[in-house]
Amino acid sequence: MKFIVKENKIDDINADCEIVIVVNKDTNHKWVKDKEDLKTLKFEGKLEECAFLPHQHRVYTGVDSLERDEIRISVAAALKKIANCDYKSVKIASYIKDCPVTNTKAIVEGALLGTYKFERYKSEKNELNIKEFIISLEDYAQKTLNIDPAIAAVKEAEIIAEVTNRAKEIVNTPPDDMTPALLAQYSIDLANELEDVTCFVGDENFLKEQEMGAFLAVSRASVHKPRLIHLKYKPKNSEKKIVFVGKGLTYDSGGLSLKPSQHMVSMKADKSGAAAVISILEGAARMKLPFEVEAIVGACENMIGANAYKPDDVLVAKNKKTIEVRNTDAEGRLVLADCLCYATEQKPDFLFDYATLTGACVVAVGEYTTGVMGHSRELKHSYMSAANKSGELIASLPFNRYLKKLLKSQIADISNISASRYGGAITAALFLDNFVQDEYKDKWLHLDIAGPAYVEKSWGYNQSGATGAGVRMALYWMKDLANKKSKHHKKDH
Ligand code: BES
Ligand code: ZN
Ligand code: ZN
Repeated sequence: MKFIVKENKIDDINADCEIVIVVNKDTNHKWVKDKEDLKTLKFEGKLEECAFLPHQHRVYTGVDSLERDEIRISVAAALKKIANCDYKSVKIASYIKDCPVTNTKAIVEGALLGTYKFERYKSEKNELNIKEFIISLEDYAQKTLNIDPAIAAVKEAEIIAEVTNRAKEIVNTPPDDMTPALLAQYSIDLANELEDVTCFVGDENFLKEQEMGAFLAVSRASVHKPRLIHLKYKPKNSEKKIVFVGKGLTYDSGGLSLKPSQHMVSMKADKSGAAAVISILEGAARMKLPFEVEAIVGACENMIGANAYKPDDVLVAKNKKTIEVRNTDAEGRLVLADCLCYATEQKPDFLFDYATLTGACVVAVGEYTTGVMGHSRELKHSYMSAANKSGELIASLPFNRYLKKLLKSQIADISNISASRYGGAITAALFLDNFVQDEYKDKWLHLDIAGPAYVEKSWGYNQSGATGAGVRMALYWMKDLANKKSKHHKKDH
């Protein structure tokens, strides 16, 4: 789908179909040309409600307000309604008063995110007929303002949505077609395609050299050997280094603490953290952000076998801390422990880890919301604000000294599970905290995406399956940081 921004009035633009957004049930608005038909159809203009009038070649879609995520949701809903029609082009007015950026971005993101389909294994591919999507800046352009920002906004929104969709593709791919080695190859290919990006892949021997005893133990029983993937985007004159670490369990069977069968289904999605950080890096490079961005992925499979690691084993992590294994299904934190040690060696200015870490986080905040944890209130706040703009849902879960005590082990420095079943998302983050050196504590956030990364029913503009959770919030956050730094401070983009 190609996006075109035009200064022309919406009525002067030729297109096969028009999408009309109805704001706050205002069916008397000047954009609404089919008032009688809408009355007959009892169209009220509620969010996600659509009315398609094939003879008029118009589809109406409701929003309560022109808040950007409502725009994304409504555009996606309208496109879904006409996706199977014989329309090659659609047009939409951008409902802009002063600033051409925010709404235009939301329209493009809603369109691209909403029309993604995972078709790799379908014999018959269902390609979208719509090839052209035209956005009219009628209201804005009449004031003869410069529309270049809108053109730039389209490009940025395209990148953000496309890399989110690429994260979905990685996550949706079944475990045998996205093994650690294949994920590493994907990353190498990506580095070859992008400017200023390099990729290092460490194999099992590298993990041994690095003394990553926790990561190695989790990986041991699989025939698919582990990889540490380290992507770097380094533009000229970059000021800050932002490191993202991703949990890349290409499959999590639970290991010897085996998952019951109904909980094992969908554990291909345990590589969602990895998919997110790889795609964030791709987004940063394509947006040419002025920061050094790194993605570090611990990729392996948690399997059973004669050589599997066991409950009762004591592991030695890269920073020499000893870990008593009491449940082999709490494996993500073991892989991340070693990856976080490696990540702090890169001396980041900011450190974020993404992981489908705990079912407890899903219980705490529901399936649609990411849990964010960390020591710095300010950093959490800025990340949550970026997430809100991006349309991703996020909630902060607070640390406390009492929960920390629940990780004590009788025989090692720390246990890999908490002594209590309550507060499991936080105790998992507090486990990770042991592998973030003091000087990086305030630069670090942990994002538990166990809920939103993969949901087996569609919601908003998300399809059933992978959603690319975490990608958009990171790109919006980095963009905010870049705007803060730029001389021409542009508010609220
Ligand atoms: N990958 C799972 C967490 C998960 C659960 C992700 C549901 C997505 C949906 C993780 O490795 C795990 O199994 N965690 C255990 C930890 C427990 C043993 C302390 C869990 O959440 O039950
Ligand atoms: Zn697990
Ligand atoms: Zn897991």
